[in-house]
Amino acid sequence: MSQTIKLAVIPGDGTGPEVTAEACKVLEAVAPLEDVTFERVDFDYGGDRYLATGEVITEQQIDELRQFDAIYLGAIGHPEVKPGILEKGLLLSIRFQLDQYINLRPVKLYPGVDCPLKDKGPEHIRFDVIRENTEDLYCGAGGFLRKNTAQEIATQEMIATRFGADRCLRWAFEHCRRRNDRKQLTLVHKTNVLTFAANLWERAFHEMGEAEFPDITRDYNHIDAACMWFVKNPEFYDTIVVPNMFGDIITDIGAMIQGGLGVSAGGNINPDPGGCSMFECMGGSAPKYTGQNVINPIAAIAAMGMLLSVIGEQKGLDNLVRAGQRVDAAIGNTTPKMSSMSAGQMGHSTSAIGDLVAESL
Ligand code: IPM
Ligand code: MN
Repeated sequence: MSQTIKLAVIPGDGTGPEVTAEACKVLEAVAPLEDVTFERVDFDYGGDRYLATGEVITEQQIDELRQFDAIYLGAIGHPEVKPGILEKGLLLSIRFQLDQYINLRPVKLYPGVDCPLKDKGPEHIRFDVIRENTEDLYCGAGGFLRKNTAQEIATQEMIATRFGADRCLRWAFEHCRRRNDRKQLTLVHKTNVLTFAANLWERAFHEMGEAEFPDITRDYNHIDAACMWFVKNPEFYDTIVVPNMFGDIITDIGAMIQGGLGVSAGGNINPDPGGCSMFECMGGSAPKYTGQNVINPIAAIAAMGMLLSVIGEQKGLDNLVRAGQRVDAAIGNTTPKMSSMSAGQMGHSTSAIGDLVAESL
């Protein structure tokens, strides 16, 4: 059965539109192969629009995005916009208001990609990080007292709720089961110091695992140790579940060991019925390379592949899942033909890499 997927595309700032064009090129090439039909609407949210109108995105406009089956985001970040405005105003606003409580970040070393770790290959680096995406230090709870005086106090609160931990843990356990690899889920936190928030997560993790997921092996790492193991023994991991702030940090390490920001993609997922998810590359808008056709589009294409697989899985549309798998396989066929993953050093232009992936579908 064919079903039309309504896709909102926000190409964004800097090189965002260039890599988005390649991701859409690959989507257009894979769609007929698996009988996928989609309807694409572009939105110009980002730095230029903010500079012109003074507005990042309104609640009404976010409601408009809610009507789509998925959102694709290129990159945001503009040299003339103060850091934080677009990140909070667009990216975090969409994550929070559309309740995209799962941040899925695959850490996958594709064939041929240079890895900064000695003696590690694709067989060692292939795990998924599931980062909670709506709570923790990201809630924006806190404030100043006696601001701008010598007695100033600032608080920034780490919020952990049982509801938030449970829904993220359940998705992580289910994802680990679906992956059907070593069926090992590692909780990453800091139970030795964060005796309230980490303790809540730890109890929720073990209670749920014992009651509902006896087939999944439970494992635990402190955040600092996980940083160390990512570098020393990444092959140890299968699926990781982690709260928001620590997840932000370890997924950057993850991005580096898989070859850099030119390769790494992320999904902000609302798995609830009718939920709207957003997929993005992890690299920024790299404004200095704008218009040069030298930025790596692999991360952007991988984000499109993830969009297809995740939406397909949620809607029970096998053709979408297969399309996503085809994109992933095509990336794997293309990376060995590239000399490097870094902007300008790939041996091919941005658009040529999009062509290579599309051709090998
Ligand atoms: C990420 C980014 C964002 C985050 C920033 C841009 C707000 O670093 O997606 O990992 O901290 O979540
Ligand atoms: Mn980050």
